[in-house]
Amino acid sequence: MIFDDFSLKTLIRPVPDFPKPGVVFRDITPLFQSPRALRLVADSFIQRYVEADFSHIGAMDARGFLIGSIIAYELNKPLVLFRKQGKLPADVLAEPYQTEYGEALLEVHSDSLCEGDKVLVFDDLIATGGTLLAAARLVRRMGASVFEAAAIIDLPELGGSERLADAGIPTFALTAFA
Ligand code: PRP
Ligand code: ADE
Repeated sequence: MIFDDFSLKTLIRPVPDFPKPGVVFRDITPLFQSPRALRLVADSFIQRYVEADFSHIGAMDARGFLIGSIIAYELNKPLVLFRKQGKLPADVLAEPYQTEYGEALLEVHSDSLCEGDKVLVFDDLIATGGTLLAAARLVRRMGASVFEAAAIIDLPELGGSERLADAGIPTFALTAFA
C-alpha cells in the first residue's frame, strides 16, 4: 500500500456502542474528509487492480458506493450497484443476509451481469462477511464470478474474510482492526 497503516488507522474513528451496545463502529467519515487520504486510498486500490483481469466492479449500498464508484471511474469499468431492499426500480434478484448488527435483503438488477463476467466487489468494511457473501450469491446466480472482494477495513475477529475464503472468494483490505 502507498501510505502507512498507522496514518490510515488514525483517520478511522472508533465509536463504541454504535449502533447497539457491544459494537465498536469503525467510522470512515474522517478519512473521506481528508482529500489527501482519500486519494491515497483510491491510489492503493488502483495500483492493485490496474492490470487485473476483471470485467465489472460491484459496490455495496451505501458506504461501498463511495470507494467502488471512484475505482470504477478510474479503471473505466462498468459499475453494478448492490442495494438494500426496495431501492432498485427494475427487476431484481434478492438474497437475505445477516450482518454484525442486523438482518437485511440485498438486491441487484437481474440484467446487470452476464455469464462469464468477472466482478471485483467493493465495500468499505468486512465484518461478518454477510453483505459480500450475499453479493457473491447474486453474482453467481447471474452466471458470473467474483474476482476478489476488496475493502478499506477488515475486522478479522468477526470471521468475514475467512467465510469469504471458504466460499472461494479472495479478499483484500487496506487495514485491519483486531
Ligand atoms: C456495513 C458496511 C458493510 C457491512 C459489513 O454496512 O458498510 O456493508 O456493514 O458488515 P458484514 O461484513 O457483516 O456484512 P451497513 O449494513 O451498516 O450499511 P451502510 O453502508 O448503508 O451504512
Ligand atoms: N458494519 C458492520 N460492522 C461494522 C463496524 N463495526 N463498524 C462499521 N461498519 C460496520
